[in-house]
Amino acid sequence: MVSSKTETGEARREVVVSAPINIALIKYWGKRDEARMVPLNDSVSLTIDTLCAKTKIRVGGSVEADSVQINGTDYDMTSQKRFWKCFAEARKILHERNGEEADEECFEVVSKTNFPVAAGLASSAAGFAAIAFALGKIYDFSEEEVARLARMGSGSACRSVFDGLVHWKAGENDDTSVEKVADAWPELRAIILVTSEKEKAVGSSTGMRFTVETSELLKYRVSHVVPERVKSLIEAYRNRDFQKLGEIIMADSNQLHAVCLDTKPPLRYMNDASWHIVSIVEAFNATTFRAAYSFDAGSNACIFIQQKDVAVFLATAAKYAQFSEDLKLSMPEARIVEAQNLLNVEPKDCSISNVIVSAVGRGPTVIHDLDAGDC
Ligand code: DP6
Repeated sequence: MVSSKTETGEARREVVVSAPINIALIKYWGKRDEARMVPLNDSVSLTIDTLCAKTKIRVGGSVEADSVQINGTDYDMTSQKRFWKCFAEARKILHERNGEEADEECFEVVSKTNFPVAAGLASSAAGFAAIAFALGKIYDFSEEEVARLARMGSGSACRSVFDGLVHWKAGENDDTSVEKVADAWPELRAIILVTSEKEKAVGSSTGMRFTVETSELLKYRVSHVVPERVKSLIEAYRNRDFQKLGEIIMADSNQLHAVCLDTKPPLRYMNDASWHIVSIVEAFNATTFRAAYSFDAGSNACIFIQQKDVAVFLATAAKYAQFSEDLKLSMPEARIVEAQNLLNVEPKDCSISNVIVSAVGRGPTVIHDLDAGDC
């Protein structure tokens, strides 16, 4: 028997968990070892509390083959290298602990996300963090083992297994590690502005491989920019210095997209709506610094902001990005304040299809029901 024991002494065979997506404030872009999923540079992130994967895992006896179902669709395990790598790592840990008996252990995964998986919202990070966290609960894996399992599925997933501000250190050789470096900042919010629900043309893994192979700028980023930036960002966060934090977040998002454009062939992830949001944020900050944008390998914006400024930002964004009436109705905060007038920005219809406002910094949790309400 390889599964762990519950408090009552019974073998734990299944668990249901919830894990949030995360957005990097300092971006991960590039691996120095693809097989072991070891990054070229450190990254730092916060989870987005309201966007999550809820996952039920069953193991042992009656589970005779690995299987994965996400939002009702069964995945073909022979073509799913990421799941295979994650499961193989779990069996390796169990083998070291229990010997050959563990090699037969199979995992049944049923997962539901509360947002579309192909919408460019870091769904794989939540999905693999949930699988790793659930296996960790079943087998009593250490935090380090849970993070490693998540990483095998998708690098950024290892940052979703912790709460608070999370630092994934590139390390040297094979010693990459991830840890929480500060508690959650209760006043901080993330506003996700969905500018496209299409799957991106070049996925992150492929895109970052092209960048590693062809970008000179990436070398400078890795050796000179990120190390200092990580230190400054963690310090600003710990000191609750919102302006300094926000300026670093935007500079790092811009640099991610700069190295993407420095790639052959160039990777263009931001669209016209993304750039319009950049203009809105810049103008919104003209008198007082209140918002910071961040874009991953996609066109959707994540705006970091303090709770006190959420309503005025949404009202202003709705005015200058010309949100539909339906969208405005979904943002009650924005209906109680006046939009700010922005200098040098013309209103533009830029197809924002969804707006999500969330607290940040929640970690994964055990839940009781896959179909229960929100995260
Ligand atoms: C731009 O973690 O999706 O979101 O490790 O190949 O699965 P793989 O890539 P992934 O890359 C995320 C890249 C990013 C920046 C970040 O989250 O740090």
